[in-house]
Amino acid sequence: MCVRSSAKPPKKNVKASEPAEPLARLIERIASETKPTKDEIFLTTEYADSIISRLKSKLPGDVEIIMAGSVARGTQIRGSSDIDIFLQFPKVMEEREMEKKALFIAKRIVDRKNEHFVINYAEHPYLKIIENKSGMSADVVPSFKISDASEIASAVDRTPLHNIFVNDNLTEKQKGDVRALKYLLKQHYIYGAEARIGGFSGYLCELLICSYGSLLKMLKSLSDAKLPVLIRPEIQEVVYGDRGLEFSRRFASNLVVVDPTDPNRNVAAAVSDESFARLVIISRMLLASKNLSSVFFGKKFSDERASASIEGFKRKFSIESCSIVMPVSKISEDTVWPQITKLRKNLEKLVSESISEPILVVQSLYQNVAIITFFLNRAEIGSESVRGPSVFIKDGASSFYLKHSPSEILLLSGERLVSIRKSEIRDLEGFLRWAVKDKKFPFPSHIMKGKSKILKRLPERYAKPVWQEMMKRVLNP
Ligand code: CTP
Ligand code: MG
Repeated sequence: MCVRSSAKPPKKNVKASEPAEPLARLIERIASETKPTKDEIFLTTEYADSIISRLKSKLPGDVEIIMAGSVARGTQIRGSSDIDIFLQFPKVMEEREMEKKALFIAKRIVDRKNEHFVINYAEHPYLKIIENKSGMSADVVPSFKISDASEIASAVDRTPLHNIFVNDNLTEKQKGDVRALKYLLKQHYIYGAEARIGGFSGYLCELLICSYGSLLKMLKSLSDAKLPVLIRPEIQEVVYGDRGLEFSRRFASNLVVVDPTDPNRNVAAAVSDESFARLVIISRMLLASKNLSSVFFGKKFSDERASASIEGFKRKFSIESCSIVMPVSKISEDTVWPQITKLRKNLEKLVSESISEPILVVQSLYQNVAIITFFLNRAEIGSESVRGPSVFIKDGASSFYLKHSPSEILLLSGERLVSIRKSEIRDLEGFLRWAVKDKKFPFPSHIMKGKSKILKRLPERYAKPVWQEMMKRVLNP
């Protein structure tokens, strides 16, 4: 293993035989505590086998069925053994036809007395089958069979190649480190490549451990990282700073982890700048802290306390907040999240222009309800100005004067007329009320503008997702 870096290399190579330091001991403990129990592995394997044999009896002979994802690689966390089963269709088929066929067959094997299913949407629609009694679930995902990256037709086609790479390159001890890393990231809300999370996927965790050698080495090295960061798991190389510039530009990202099964893919493409920065800060805190557990496990909060925590945060700095709570269509999270982002950016721009720059704006999504919360310095706005025409445009200037002079103050700004009037929007709440009512301010298609509510204080069920999103941005709550 080599960790090459143009920044400072890790000071000391920690070998397994060396006396364990506290952080190494904690990682070892988490790796062991997150290892699925023998019972869990037995039950998962039994359930996966049952689904695979049911699929086999219904699928044509040229479709291969493989177990993929973390369960197939032994990197799943205890209690979250979600089974990933991939159907590999021959590439001669048309994509939509393949999707239709896969869903049709997957639905037919569901044992409706003991199981139910939901259709989820990633690159292809796929079926999640859930066993009612145990809650165990299996994703049945359609894909095309390929032997190398040049044949890729869709993102999931690489997955079987991921299996091979991870199983060939990670030792059992390293798989333990992958589990500990996933656990750490979950505690800090940055695990998962979903748009809502913008964090680290399971496969990315596997590649990171493979490239750095161990979680401890990774944390030590990341605490000194410089941007851009380039990681090539295939040659187990980590490069910080200018030497990674070419890749950083090519992939338009500060963190590039080249997929060893496809040189044209950045496995870290979904990681947001905040998520990566957060991991670097966590690394530094873990290396410096005397109270390791409190950093590793993150700040705890219970459901009942989220609203009070938000109110406390506001009180401490005389911040006011106001939220728009909006029902959204029953549609995949990855589709609706970018719409919430777009709306949040539009609103944020208007709030900055007409009230003041927000201190923090968070968007969240909870059971088909989107929430956008603005945190702002307490501000009241009394008036607004309307720019009129030049005095030298005679007709325009006259009608502007007639329209505005009875109730407003008229000023000259250069040779232009400006009117000052009482603002209808007097504060953040007023502004948001205007935004949800005004026809000129459109909302994206899946967000139900007409059913939106404006709330100054969030009830617990909405405060929890907002607080979770806040915790991704606030480092010292
Ligand atoms: N996959 C991928 N790109 C994604 C999502 C998934 O290539 N954006 C592939 C990966 O090979 C991944 C597999 O699909 O391992 C299964 O995805 P998922 O269940 O999301 O991740 P796991 O690696 O199984 O991790 P977890 O333990 O969280 O289930
Ligand atoms: Mg999985």
